[in-house]
Amino acid sequence: MYEINTGKGKERAAESVSSLIKDGMVVGLGTGSTAEIAVRMIGHRIKEEDLEIFGVPTSLKTEMTAIECGIRVSTLFEHSSLDLCIDGADQVDSQLNLVKGGWGSHTREKVVSYAAKRLVIFVDETKTVEKLNKPVPLEVLPYAVKVVEQQVKALGGVPVLRQDGTRGGFFITESGNLVIDADFGVITNPEKLNKALSSIVGSVEHGIFTNAVEVHMGHEEGVEILKRSVV
Ligand code: A5P
Repeated sequence: MYEINTGKGKERAAESVSSLIKDGMVVGLGTGSTAEIAVRMIGHRIKEEDLEIFGVPTSLKTEMTAIECGIRVSTLFEHSSLDLCIDGADQVDSQLNLVKGGWGSHTREKVVSYAAKRLVIFVDETKTVEKLNKPVPLEVLPYAVKVVEQQVKALGGVPVLRQDGTRGGFFITESGNLVIDADFGVITNPEKLNKALSSIVGSVEHGIFTNAVEVHMGHEEGVEILKRSVV
């Protein structure tokens, strides 16, 4: 079960990223407890400032929160090019590579983020590490689980089929798939692992993201904005 950290850092990061939203934008809305805070802040700004904004949610949960907050919800069919995508993360390294998928929404999160001109991540400081070391979630076709496990092992990973801590049994994604959390220890080359995991047959998508351009990191006292260095 994922722990919900309700420290001030999340709120500060969410506030900082919400301020990037401008009138007329089409924005990808991430999933998770940090993303939910930002979605509610955006809803508040829409009411206060009479903004016209479309939100493209990355999960049903976010969609429901967005509707509840008065955000006009759209889809990638109607808006396939977004101005911005904002999202949380489970881990962020010093080069702004990410592990995502703690809530099992990484497939839709990745698709929406690639439709956006910019992916901006916002986290509290507990999510930052020098090198990624969290198990990487893979959304897997149910009948392919054993075949995916073999491929993960061949890459040096230890696969664990995710359980649903709340309902019992296996964790099932919104698309009806399973999730394998693949432990690779310290990930020294995220770009290489990204490519290797993308080639696994039977996996729909994995939780390594290398496309964030900016990270807003919230502390108790304020927010640090980290930008990807151009190579
Ligand atoms: C959702 O599947 C994840 O990618 C989330 O972005 C991530 O788990 C962050 O969630 P919290 O903000 O709840 O930590």
